[in-house]
Amino acid sequence: MKVVWCITGAGHLLRESFDVMKKLKEHGVKITTLVSRAGEEVVKMYGLMEELYSISNNTYYEELIFEREHPYSAPITGRLSLGKYDYLISTPTTGNTVAKVVNGIADTLVTNAIAQAGKGFVKCIIVPVDYVEGVVTTRLPFSINREKCTLCKACMEVCENDAIVENFDETFSKSFMEIILSKCIGCGKCKEICQYDAIIEGKEIKMRVRKVDAKNTKKLNDLEDTVVLKNPYEIMDILLKRQKNYKLTNFKRH
Ligand SMILES: Cc1cc2nc3c(=O)[nH]c(=O)nc-3n(C[C@H](O)[C@H](O)[C@H](O)COP(=O)(O)O)c2cc1C
Repeated sequence: MKVVWCITGAGHLLRESFDVMKKLKEHGVKITTLVSRAGEEVVKMYGLMEELYSISNNTYYEELIFEREHPYSAPITGRLSLGKYDYLISTPTTGNTVAKVVNGIADTLVTNAIAQAGKGFVKCIIVPVDYVEGVVTTRLPFSINREKCTLCKACMEVCENDAIVENFDETFSKSFMEIILSKCIGCGKCKEICQYDAIIEGKEIKMRVRKVDAKNTKKLNDLEDTVVLKNPYEIMDILLKRQKNYKLTNFKRH
C-alpha cells in the first residue's frame, strides 16, 4: 500500500503521528512524506528530523518532500491527481491548513496535495489538531526553567546551533537564558549537561481550541472521500484492515 503523509506545523499530536507512521512502515506501507515549511521547523524543534529521514528514506514512493524545496506547483502532487496512491493522510493538521482546505485554497505543498487528492479520487484521512471547541493539553519542545537556572551557561556552550542565548529582563532587572526555538534541533545535549535540571523537554500546556478552528474542522466532512479523525492512532485500524483485505484478494487471484 502507498500513502502520501502530510505533516504541518503543529506540535500537538506530532509525536503520536510519528508513532503511527513508524508502525505502518513496519507493516510494509510505503510512505511519501510532504512537510510544510512550518512543519519542517516544528519537526526539528521536537528533535524528530532523524526519525523522519528513516521513515521516508527518499527511495521510490518513499520520498521526503519539503515545501521549502518545492515552493510552488509541487509536481509530486501530480501523482495524487493520477490516483497513484491509496490514501492521503494529513496529521498533525494545523488550524491554518484546515482553514485553507475548507475554503478551497491550495497554495502550499500540503493544501495543494489535499486538493489534488480530491481531484484524483484518492481517499483522504485528516487529523486536525483542533477537533472540537474546548481545551487540549499539549507539549512544548525544549524550554528553560528560569527558577532552577543558575546562569552557568553550560547549555549555551554545548549547543552546536547557537540556539541558547543570554537575555535581559528589563522588568525584573535580571538576566536569563533562553532557547531560540527556530535554531533548536531538539538534540537534548543542553538537557544532558545541565546539572540543575533546568532544561525541560515536553512541558505540558493547556491550549484553547477556538470556535473558528472547530467550525472549520466540521466543514472538512464536506470534502469528497474524506474521513476526519480525532486521533492519529485510529488510522492504524483503517489502513491495516484495508491492507489485510488487499493481501487476501491478491492471494485469491493467484
Ligand atoms: C513549537 C510550535 C508548535 C505549534 N503547534 C501548533 C499546533 O499544535 N496547532 C496549530 O494549529 N499551530 C501550531 N503552531 C503554529 C503553526 O506552525 C503556524 O500556524 C503555521 O503558520 C502553520 O503553517 P502550516 O499550516 O502551513 O504548517 C505551532 C508553532 C510552533 C512554533
